Amino acid sequence: MKVGIFGAGWVGLVTGSCLADLGHDVVIRDVVPEKVAALREGKVPFHEEDVPELLERNRDRLSFTLDAGEVADGADFLFVCVDTPPTHSGDADLSRVWTVIDELPPLEERTVLVMKSTVPVGTGEKVRAGLDARGLGNVGYVSNPEFLAEGRAVADFMNPDRIVIGAYEAADGDAVEALYDGVDSTVVRCDVNSAEMIKLAANAFLMTRISFINEIANVCELTGADVTKVAEGVGLDHRLGPHFLRAGIGYGGSCFPKDSLALKQLASNSGYHFQLLSAVIEVNELQKRRVIAKLQKHLGRLRGKHVALLGLAFKPHTDDMREAPSIVLASRLLAEGAEVTVWDPVAKPNELLKGVTARESPLEAVRGADAAVIVTEWPELRELASPETLEAMSGTLIVDGRNLLDPDEVRAAGFAYEGVGRSSSPVTALPASEEEPAPTT
Ligand code: UDX
Repeated sequence: MKVGIFGAGWVGLVTGSCLADLGHDVVIRDVVPEKVAALREGKVPFHEEDVPELLERNRDRLSFTLDAGEVADGADFLFVCVDTPPTHSGDADLSRVWTVIDELPPLEERTVLVMKSTVPVGTGEKVRAGLDARGLGNVGYVSNPEFLAEGRAVADFMNPDRIVIGAYEAADGDAVEALYDGVDSTVVRCDVNSAEMIKLAANAFLMTRISFINEIANVCELTGADVTKVAEGVGLDHRLGPHFLRAGIGYGGSCFPKDSLALKQLASNSGYHFQLLSAVIEVNELQKRRVIAKLQKHLGRLRGKHVALLGLAFKPHTDDMREAPSIVLASRLLAEGAEVTVWDPVAKPNELLKGVTARESPLEAVRGADAAVIVTEWPELRELASPETLEAMSGTLIVDGRNLLDPDEVRAAGFAYEGVGRSSSPVTALPASEEEPAPTT
């Protein structure tokens, strides 16, 4: 099949390279000339495992263009993989989707427009009407949301839990289903509105689990239970399952924060106050800030204190810092007057992290630090509680925002330990310079 893809971002490139690997001819179009030029030279603009190899392996079946006409020419399918960022109101900004529709040239043969971008429920109906208004009645419309997690997107595409296909015309849905020949998965066929809602509901449910276990963790801290054991015991109930029960400092990334706002807004615009989702979002915001209180508990006022933030990316195995807890933490620490050093193996401080100092290794980042905070559970940090770290730091506090380390081992190595939802080390005497009580965060 000939597949055209609008958008050479993360979703477009993963989708395009995987479809090429399944044997289809793929043309990917983007509006940014530098991006298209770099991709033609085989350079991938982000860190995502397996994508560079797939692009290289399928060079003959993949091309890149700036021209909307070229991508549509003779295409059996046109995938929409453009950004739908939140607007100031929290609604999804669909302007890039509409640009794609506006740019479609007249198409002689039947073509199916496949929506991969995450869009509010009801978008398909509007796009269908927009296509008809443009005289593009021969363009079919199918909602086929992506469920790709960063860092394992190619594996998710090739071995998905399900493929969701919502179509107006059954034949268009059949055609999209056939496009995935070679991918072994359950296919859910439904109407377009339901397909759109499946994506939003799945993400909202995953976020609900995270905020739920984070609140359980907060209660564990007050009652002396250990959330890692609680999650293990809860997750073995087959009705609940073990996934997305890792307590920590909250979710971030390009999808969850934006999609939760979009669903909340969608409900609100439709006349429904989605209370549970509002709480999920609020719990997540507060969860990031609890790290500051833990630092204050041990260090007193943070003015003039040196805190090392280890990990900038919103999760390991990606360089993506969108909505990363590191950004909130760095801003709060700088606002408190702390000195902040940071380390991440792939993500580099951006304009949102002005005022921090980047270091090349965890050891360099913690040198002279009063406290080290594990923000992202990079495997490199498993060995953090070493004699070298203890010697390099000027204090002894490790705040483990991801419960990456074993508290007993960390304490045995001479550190004070604060995890999330597990017993914390007793507070030793606060620094002598302490004059005023620490403000509450
Ligand atoms: C997510 C969904 O998994 C994917 O299906 C959707 O298409 C896009 O959003 P992604 O954002 O790449 O993918 O990351 P994911 O691995 O799902 O993690 C999201 C966030 O939740 C991260 O910040 C992670 O640290 C956090 N998380 C995840 C937890 O705090 N606890 C958990 O148990 C799981």
